[in-house]
Amino acid sequence: LIAFFQPKALAGRRVLITAGPTFEAIDPVRGITNHSSGKMGFAIARAAQEAGAQVTLVAGPVHQPTPAHVRRIDVQSAQQMHDAVLPLAGAHDVFIATAAVADWRPAAAAGQKLKKDGSGRPPAFEMVENPDILAAVARLDDGPYCIGFAAESHDLLRHAQEKRARKNVPLLVGNIGPATFGQDTNALLLVDAHGHRELPQADKLTLARQLVAEIALRLNPSTP
Ligand code: CTP
Ligand code: CA
Repeated sequence: LIAFFQPKALAGRRVLITAGPTFEAIDPVRGITNHSSGKMGFAIARAAQEAGAQVTLVAGPVHQPTPAHVRRIDVQSAQQMHDAVLPLAGAHDVFIATAAVADWRPAAAAGQKLKKDGSGRPPAFEMVENPDILAAVARLDDGPYCIGFAAESHDLLRHAQEKRARKNVPLLVGNIGPATFGQDTNALLLVDAHGHRELPQADKLTLARQLVAEIALRLNPSTP
């Protein structure tokens, strides 16, 4: 009952979230993607909405139901995700980059399906780097409070600290491996300017709610 009368932790805040993988076309029938399920980002969208935020979720190709009262924008490629996020970022208070964005894309997608040419040699195609969406939002003047994610195979704390500094974001969240993609549980490592702490193994919605509470504390440091 007391909780009912307490203002929600993110009341009046606008939260923008990226989630899922991206898909980088090679030709009309194939492309490059990864195994991100989008579960963590969708759970955070739900938790933020429950905490009173207005939530915009920019999702790569995933099979997840849209959380109630969340505005969802579907995209395929990293460039499309970038182009959807950047114009919206300035109107949001918080940006949470959970998407597993493809680092590279084929320089030019073929207009027609690539065919075997009988030589036994695979086609060669040039790759180019995709824009870094999180770093671009973090560079905005008056931009939102930015939270990055990192999945690392080794030396998580060191890589998370480095990534936090390189992208210039106040909070970087490490997925404590191994291989959390598609799993229903996870454990998180929170790295900020003051140090680091762990949110121990739990289902993704529980972790999402804990993370939302941590973000709210950082936005309203005086709240008891
Ligand atoms: N990210 C992004 N745009 C990209 C690449 C990453 O917004 N083109 C975001 C991710 O959503 C995540 C954070 O940056 O929040 C870290 O992503 P990660 O892949 O771990 O870092 P990279 O900078 O791509 O470095 P690397 O993959 O080489 O470790
Ligand atoms: Ca990457």
